[in-house]
Amino acid sequence: MVEQTLIIVKPDAVKRNLIGKILTRFEEKGFVIKNIKSLNLTSEQAREFYSAHKEKPFFEELVSFISSHMVVACILEGSNAISTVRLLIGSTTSYQASPGTIRGDYGLGITENIIHASDSYESFIKESGVIFDSNT
Ligand code: CMP
Repeated sequence: MVEQTLIIVKPDAVKRNLIGKILTRFEEKGFVIKNIKSLNLTSEQAREFYSAHKEKPFFEELVSFISSHMVVACILEGSNAISTVRLLIGSTTSYQASPGTIRGDYGLGITENIIHASDSYESFIKESGVIFDSNT
């Protein structure tokens, strides 16, 4: 089933000049970049983007990190995009992520974990709205 999903190359990866390497992974796998945008999220956008985590103890740290620097957001399209892209990015805890995944190859952090990808269709709709329906 052809699906779309959203990924965000996070501030740590942008600062380390990994944008090209990360997007290449998805292109080489066969996904098509249907939309792409670089932006610096406002604190309000970050709070809305991560609202599912607003009760978590790490919420403020997460909002502060994701809005601290430019990020690159992409809508990717391809077969089973939501679950396949999650497989490609690896576990949230980068130091435990399998080698061969993006987090497994490039990161060690938890909050600073290189990349975000939508975990469901509902998350994709909400998150892509926050990113692409704004003038930021
Ligand atoms: P992401 O895939 O963007 O979705 C939610 C984010 O919360 C996650 O990546 C991490 O960056 C962050 N996160 C999840 N668990 C923790 C945690 N225990 N401590 C700090 N940050 C976390």
